[in-house]
Amino acid sequence: MSDEAVRSSDSPFAIEVEIGTTYYWCSCGKSKTQPFCDGSHKGSSFSPVKYIAEESKKVYFCGCKQTRTPPLCDGSHKNQGS
Ligand code: FES
Repeated sequence: MSDEAVRSSDSPFAIEVEIGTTYYWCSCGKSKTQPFCDGSHKGSSFSPVKYIAEESKKVYFCGCKQTRTPPLCDGSHKNQGS
């Protein structure tokens, strides 16, 4: 099976995270609750990426699913497009 991540958004998701809270970032792009996993990856080769907030602040979770620094945006969404 050759799975490819679905591009869920053309820009990152700005989320106010809370210190000590664990988040599960959707790596497959199929979740309906982006940028977080809702279990839609089941049956694929993808699994969510765990992120524990070390401080309360706004972070940018990757939406294009092509980031090289998951779960956070590294600007990769700008390198693609049609
Ligand atoms: S729904 Fe995409 S990783 Fe879980």
